[in-house]
Amino acid sequence: MTRDELLKTYPDIFVIKHPFVMHKLTSLRDKNTSTREFRMLVEELGTLIGYEATRDLETIDVEVETPLEKAMCPVLKGKKLCIVTIMRAGNGLAEGVLKLSPSARVGHVGLYRDPDTKQPVEYYLKMPHSVNERTIIVVDPMLATGNSAIMAIDKMKEMGASDIRFICLFAAPEGIQAFKAAHPDVAMYIGAIDRELDEHAYIRPGVGDAGDRIYGTR
Ligand code: URA
Repeated sequence: MTRDELLKTYPDIFVIKHPFVMHKLTSLRDKNTSTREFRMLVEELGTLIGYEATRDLETIDVEVETPLEKAMCPVLKGKKLCIVTIMRAGNGLAEGVLKLSPSARVGHVGLYRDPDTKQPVEYYLKMPHSVNERTIIVVDPMLATGNSAIMAIDKMKEMGASDIRFICLFAAPEGIQAFKAAHPDVAMYIGAIDRELDEHAYIRPGVGDAGDRIYGTR
């Protein structure tokens, strides 16, 4: 499916076209952006896109006494948040989402991509308790084939999660299609939908290897 067909077919795919988001994404693409700046930008984008991804969290009115009078005002209803990072590139993005809700729990899913099969292999999984009672936000900067995100969300569902959403910075149309085929109930909050995957399953034009660029490992 093309980008436009995907957006028409799935109304819960949100591409965040805010000028700050678009500007920061462009800085990420620049091969001359330093490791320090890249890491900062990923974190800032986690906050900005996380803000959109939590727009529908429920609130409840409570009584508060201002210096002038009592008033009924909204607070978060209390359903607990859990940010789930797909390691390692997801960690940078998770830090940004956590700025919105510093008391959120954090789950870690460790997956590496087998270079031959391109399939994800789990090497680590650590989640907080009561996953079924939480709003789960799964984060990974790059949605390439979609296999890692699909597998991470499979794990969340096996553990009883039902309120799940997904954040990424860059996505390939192929990855989105695979993701939605596997998890049509999971809303996607995306910085930009890029042109395609190349033969090494890199997103084009993309940013290269996001983990390497966040941690300066290349
Ligand atoms: N992972 C990355 O870091 N970059 C890509 O382009 C695809 C997957």
